[in-house]
Amino acid sequence: MANLALLLTLSCLLASTLNADARKQTPSVVEEEESFLREIGGGKVKLAKLHLYVQDLRIGHKNATVVEVAKAEGVTDNSPYKFGSVHVLDDLVTEGPGINSRPVGRIQGLTTNADLSTFGIAMNLNFVFTTGKIAGSTLSILGRNQVKDDARELPVAGGTGVFRYARGYAIQTTYSMDFATQYAVLEYTIYTTYSYGINEDDVEVMEM
Ligand SMILES: *[C@@H]1O[C@H](CO)[C@@H](O)[C@H](O)[C@H]1NC(C)=O
Repeated sequence: MANLALLLTLSCLLASTLNADARKQTPSVVEEEESFLREIGGGKVKLAKLHLYVQDLRIGHKNATVVEVAKAEGVTDNSPYKFGSVHVLDDLVTEGPGINSRPVGRIQGLTTNADLSTFGIAMNLNFVFTTGKIAGSTLSILGRNQVKDDARELPVAGGTGVFRYARGYAIQTTYSMDFATQYAVLEYTIYTTYSYGINEDDVEVMEM
Protein backbone atom coordinates (compact mmCIF):
# COMPACT_ATOMS: atom_id res chain seq x y z
CA MET A 1 0.00 0.00 0.00
CA ALA A 2 1.61 3.20 -1.20
CA ASN A 3 0.06 5.25 1.52
CA LEU A 4 1.67 3.24 4.28
CA ALA A 5 4.93 4.97 3.53
CA LEU A 6 3.18 8.28 3.99
CA LEU A 7 1.83 7.28 7.36
CA LEU A 8 5.29 6.32 8.53
CA THR A 9 6.77 9.63 7.56
CA LEU A 10 4.04 11.85 8.90
CA SER A 11 5.24 14.86 10.76
CA CYS A 12 3.54 17.89 12.20
CA LEU A 13 1.46 20.69 10.81
CA LEU A 14 2.62 24.11 11.91
CA ALA A 15 5.94 22.73 13.04
CA SER A 16 7.42 26.19 13.02
CA THR A 17 4.82 27.62 15.36
CA LEU A 18 4.01 24.78 17.72
CA ASN A 19 5.37 24.36 21.19
CA ALA A 20 6.46 20.88 22.23
CA ASP A 21 3.22 20.05 24.02
CA ALA A 22 1.00 21.04 21.16
CA ARG A 23 3.19 19.14 18.74
CA LYS A 24 2.66 15.96 20.72
CA GLN A 25 -1.11 16.36 20.40
CA THR A 26 -1.13 17.07 16.70
CA PRO A 27 -2.70 14.16 14.86
CA SER A 28 -0.33 12.39 12.56
CA VAL A 29 -2.80 12.75 9.72
CA VAL A 30 -1.29 16.14 9.15
CA GLU A 31 2.10 16.86 7.73
CA GLU A 32 3.81 19.80 6.23
CA GLU A 33 4.28 19.00 2.57
CA GLU A 34 7.84 20.11 2.07
CA SER A 35 8.05 19.38 -1.61
CA PHE A 36 5.28 21.91 -2.11
CA LEU A 37 6.35 24.18 0.69
CA ARG A 38 6.24 27.77 -0.36
CA GLU A 39 5.65 31.11 1.14
CA ILE A 40 2.84 33.30 -0.01
CA GLY A 41 1.59 36.59 1.32
CA GLY A 42 4.68 37.56 3.27
CA GLY A 43 5.44 34.07 4.48
CA LYS A 44 2.18 33.57 6.35
CA VAL A 45 0.69 30.79 4.27
CA LYS A 46 2.08 27.31 3.75
CA LEU A 47 0.87 24.14 2.16
CA ALA A 48 -0.09 21.16 4.31
CA LYS A 49 -0.92 17.59 3.43
CA LEU A 50 -3.60 15.77 5.39
CA HIS A 51 -4.10 12.05 5.13
CA LEU A 52 -7.20 10.71 6.82
CA TYR A 53 -10.02 8.22 6.65
CA VAL A 54 -13.79 8.68 6.71
CA GLN A 55 -15.99 6.04 8.33
CA ASP A 56 -19.00 6.12 6.03
CA LEU A 57 -21.83 4.22 7.73
CA ARG A 58 -24.28 4.37 4.87
CA ILE A 59 -28.03 4.03 4.67
CA GLY A 60 -28.80 0.45 5.66
CA HIS A 61 -25.95 0.29 8.19
CA LYS A 62 -27.10 -0.46 11.73
CA ASN A 63 -25.54 2.78 13.02
CA ALA A 64 -25.93 4.82 9.85
CA THR A 65 -24.43 8.31 9.90
CA VAL A 66 -25.95 9.16 6.52
CA VAL A 67 -29.63 9.88 5.90
CA GLU A 68 -31.62 10.69 2.80
CA VAL A 69 -33.55 13.90 3.39
CA ALA A 70 -35.09 14.61 -0.02
CA LYS A 71 -35.76 13.18 -3.43
CA ALA A 72 -37.78 14.16 -6.50
CA GLU A 73 -41.20 12.54 -6.59
CA GLY A 74 -41.51 10.33 -9.66
CA VAL A 75 -37.93 10.99 -10.78
CA THR A 76 -35.35 9.80 -8.26
CA ASP A 77 -36.68 6.29 -7.86
CA ASN A 78 -36.92 5.86 -11.64
CA SER A 79 -33.41 7.15 -12.28
CA PRO A 80 -30.50 4.66 -12.44
CA TYR A 81 -28.37 7.38 -10.88
CA LYS A 82 -30.89 8.41 -8.19
CA PHE A 83 -31.07 11.88 -9.68
CA GLY A 84 -32.40 14.41 -7.19
CA SER A 85 -31.59 12.45 -4.05
CA VAL A 86 -30.15 14.59 -1.24
CA HIS A 87 -28.24 13.10 1.69
CA VAL A 88 -27.03 14.59 4.96
CA LEU A 89 -24.04 12.97 6.60
CA ASP A 90 -22.06 13.25 9.82
CA ASP A 91 -19.27 10.69 9.41
CA LEU A 92 -16.45 10.00 11.84
CA VAL A 93 -12.98 10.95 10.58
CA THR A 94 -10.06 8.84 11.81
CA GLU A 95 -6.29 8.77 11.60
CA GLY A 96 -6.14 5.22 10.25
CA PRO A 97 -8.59 3.08 8.29
CA GLY A 98 -10.01 1.13 11.26
CA ILE A 99 -13.21 2.35 12.88
CA ASN A 100 -11.47 2.29 16.28
CA SER A 101 -8.52 4.28 14.99
CA ARG A 102 -7.82 7.63 16.67
CA PRO A 103 -10.69 10.07 16.00
CA VAL A 104 -9.64 13.25 14.24
CA GLY A 105 -13.02 14.89 13.68
CA ARG A 106 -16.18 14.61 11.64
CA ILE A 107 -17.14 15.29 8.07
CA GLN A 108 -20.57 16.88 7.86
CA GLY A 109 -22.74 18.19 5.09
CA LEU A 110 -24.80 17.47 2.03
CA THR A 111 -24.38 15.29 -1.01
CA THR A 112 -26.75 15.50 -3.96
CA ASN A 113 -27.13 13.13 -6.90
CA ALA A 114 -26.92 15.84 -9.52
CA ASP A 115 -26.13 14.04 -12.78
CA LEU A 116 -28.80 12.60 -15.08
CA SER A 117 -26.44 10.34 -17.00
CA THR A 118 -23.99 8.93 -14.45
CA PHE A 119 -23.23 8.92 -10.73
CA GLY A 120 -22.08 12.51 -10.34
CA ILE A 121 -22.48 13.82 -6.83
CA ALA A 122 -22.50 17.50 -5.87
CA MET A 123 -20.59 17.64 -2.57
CA ASN A 124 -20.94 20.30 0.10
CA LEU A 125 -18.94 19.07 3.08
CA ASN A 126 -17.13 20.46 6.10
CA PHE A 127 -14.34 18.67 7.91
CA VAL A 128 -14.63 19.61 11.59
CA PHE A 129 -11.37 18.81 13.38
CA THR A 130 -11.42 17.89 17.07
CA THR A 131 -7.88 16.70 17.77
CA GLY A 132 -4.59 18.45 18.45
CA LYS A 133 -3.54 21.82 17.13
CA ILE A 134 -6.12 21.76 14.36
CA ALA A 135 -9.00 21.16 16.84
CA GLY A 136 -11.67 23.75 16.23
CA SER A 137 -10.57 24.41 12.67
CA THR A 138 -12.75 23.46 9.72
CA LEU A 139 -12.06 22.77 6.08
CA SER A 140 -14.78 23.10 3.45
CA ILE A 141 -14.91 20.87 0.41
CA LEU A 142 -17.20 21.65 -2.44
CA GLY A 143 -17.39 20.15 -5.87
CA ARG A 144 -18.31 17.28 -8.15
CA ASN A 145 -17.62 13.71 -7.12
CA GLN A 146 -17.38 11.44 -10.14
CA VAL A 147 -18.12 8.34 -8.09
CA LYS A 148 -16.98 5.76 -10.64
CA ASP A 149 -13.46 7.16 -10.88
CA ASP A 150 -10.89 5.35 -8.78
CA ALA A 151 -9.64 8.68 -7.46
CA ARG A 152 -12.00 11.62 -7.19
CA GLU A 153 -10.62 15.15 -7.09
CA LEU A 154 -12.53 17.72 -5.07
CA PRO A 155 -11.73 21.39 -4.53
CA VAL A 156 -10.94 22.76 -1.09
CA ALA A 157 -13.09 25.88 -1.07
CA GLY A 158 -12.06 27.44 2.22
CA GLY A 159 -11.80 26.94 5.94
CA THR A 160 -11.63 28.44 9.40
CA GLY A 161 -9.04 28.57 12.17
CA VAL A 162 -5.64 27.48 10.86
CA PHE A 163 -7.36 26.88 7.54
CA ARG A 164 -8.44 30.49 7.03
CA TYR A 165 -7.90 31.42 3.38
CA ALA A 166 -7.52 27.73 2.59
CA ARG A 167 -7.19 26.73 -1.03
CA GLY A 168 -6.30 23.34 -2.38
CA TYR A 169 -7.68 20.02 -3.45
CA ALA A 170 -8.62 16.66 -2.02
CA ILE A 171 -8.22 13.23 -3.56
CA GLN A 172 -10.86 10.80 -2.36
CA THR A 173 -10.53 7.07 -2.90
CA THR A 174 -12.53 4.14 -1.59
CA TYR A 175 -10.37 2.23 0.88
CA SER A 176 -12.98 -0.47 1.46
CA MET A 177 -16.66 -1.12 0.85
CA ASP A 178 -18.75 -3.83 2.50
CA PHE A 179 -22.05 -4.01 0.64
CA ALA A 180 -23.55 -6.50 3.11
CA THR A 181 -23.34 -4.05 6.01
CA GLN A 182 -23.20 -0.80 3.98
CA TYR A 183 -19.91 0.13 5.64
CA ALA A 184 -17.47 2.07 3.52
CA VAL A 185 -14.11 3.58 4.43
CA LEU A 186 -13.04 6.50 2.31
CA GLU A 187 -9.48 7.71 2.16
CA TYR A 188 -8.75 11.41 1.73
CA THR A 189 -5.45 13.00 0.82
CA ILE A 190 -5.81 16.76 1.02
CA TYR A 191 -3.34 19.40 -0.06
CA THR A 192 -4.33 22.73 1.37
CA THR A 193 -2.85 26.04 2.29
CA TYR A 194 -2.93 27.00 5.93
CA SER A 195 -2.23 30.26 7.70
CA TYR A 196 -0.07 30.97 10.67
CA GLY A 197 0.83 34.09 12.56
CA ILE A 198 -1.44 36.39 10.62
CA ASN A 199 -2.21 39.44 12.70
CA GLU A 200 -3.92 42.73 12.01
CA ASP A 201 -0.66 44.51 11.18
CA ASP A 202 -0.31 42.28 8.14
CA VAL A 203 -3.71 43.19 6.77
CA GLU A 204 -4.01 46.03 4.32
CA VAL A 205 -7.40 47.70 4.53
CA MET A 206 -8.95 48.31 1.14
CA GLU A 207 -11.24 51.30 0.74
CA MET A 208 -14.24 50.39 -1.35
C1 LIG B 1 -23.54 0.05 16.48
O1 LIG B 1 -23.22 0.79 17.65
C2 LIG B 1 -23.18 0.03 18.83
C3 LIG B 1 -23.01 0.98 19.99
O2 LIG B 1 -21.88 1.80 19.81
C4 LIG B 1 -22.08 -1.02 18.73
O3 LIG B 1 -22.02 -1.79 19.89
C5 LIG B 1 -22.34 -1.90 17.52
O4 LIG B 1 -21.25 -2.78 17.33
C6 LIG B 1 -22.52 -1.05 16.27
N1 LIG B 1 -22.93 -1.90 15.16
C7 LIG B 1 -22.26 -1.96 14.01
C8 LIG B 1 -22.81 -2.90 12.99
O5 LIG B 1 -21.27 -1.30 13.80
